[in-house]
Amino acid sequence: MVALVTGGAGFIGSHLVEALLSEGYSVVVLDDLSTGNEKNLASVRYKITLYRESILSQDLKGVLRDVEVIFHLAAQINVRRSVEDPTYDLKVNALGTLNLLEQARDVERFIYASSGGAVYGEPRYLPVDEEHSTDPISPYGASKLAGEKYVQLYGYNYGVKYAILRYANVYGERQDARGEAGVIAIFLDRLKAGRALTVFGTGEQTRDYIYVGDVVRANLLALKREGVFNIATGVETSVNELIEIIAGVTGIVPEVEYAPPRKGEVQRIYLSTTRAREKLGFNAEVSLREGIARVWRSMR
Ligand SMILES: NC(=O)c1ccc[n+]([C@@H]2O[C@H](COP(=O)([O-])OP(=O)(O)OC[C@H]3O[C@@H](n4cnc5c(N)ncnc54)[C@H](O)[C@@H]3O)[C@@H](O)[C@H]2O)c1
Repeated sequence: MVALVTGGAGFIGSHLVEALLSEGYSVVVLDDLSTGNEKNLASVRYKITLYRESILSQDLKGVLRDVEVIFHLAAQINVRRSVEDPTYDLKVNALGTLNLLEQARDVERFIYASSGGAVYGEPRYLPVDEEHSTDPISPYGASKLAGEKYVQLYGYNYGVKYAILRYANVYGERQDARGEAGVIAIFLDRLKAGRALTVFGTGEQTRDYIYVGDVVRANLLALKREGVFNIATGVETSVNELIEIIAGVTGIVPEVEYAPPRKGEVQRIYLSTTRAREKLGFNAEVSLREGIARVWRSMR
């Protein structure tokens, strides 16, 4: 089987590429390296075909030749950037997805990386399940949701089998600490540099943190099922609890600075895992403590 991973030089994509190779897939990567890095693929570079090109390219024929399944992870993932430059965000996330779908109408299966943290908006109840209303509060959430709609439309019109995976907050080895997505990467990076951790607001805001290896496993399970699935742990963790776990794992008691809360961030969110468990047979296996320990080991 030939699999295309868009965004395969990024944080999650590069882990998925490694897993697909171990499963015996031939892997093609399409990535413009805007936030991704060829270094993320260092261990597998000679085993894959890497196209350094945008998903917005009008000519993806060569990239798509022989491809049977597409894992679409390429995206503009920075929420603040989406607020500052919503047009760029829309182009990459919505138009980019549409452009890819339009040129890949014949593909057998399309697996789309969406965001449970962004498409639902302010939760009306917890844990948030897949039936929850989708009212994004950022351009990023709106563009990721638009991407979902196009995927469903191509399923309906052209029979493309699809799965939409709404990830919780993903963390793990190789996550870019310069981005704003990964609080765990940022905290561990600061700790290593002997710097204070900045918490926006009281630190009582909660998230659902999932280890990248679990997300990769969910992508492989999604090859056999269709639909929309939260990919999460269902565990609610506050930033203050996260700091306690980090202190426990690293043996370093961090200095913590509190700053004013940031606009446009939800206060509490964690996702229901029932559908993924029942329909995909997916359960997150790596605890937050274990996952953080793995990342910390890889950084030292
Ligand atoms: N990290 C998270 O917590 C999280 C949570 C929910 C959903 N997601 C989704 O998972 C996917 C991967 O995210 P990530 O955290 O690995 O981010 P990342 O920035 O590391 O990966 C995105 C990749 O896409 C590439 N890319 C960006 N624009 C492109 C374009 N126009 N053409 C081709 N390639 C392009 C980048 O170079 C990068 O390699 C994204 O779709 C994101 O929306 C991530």
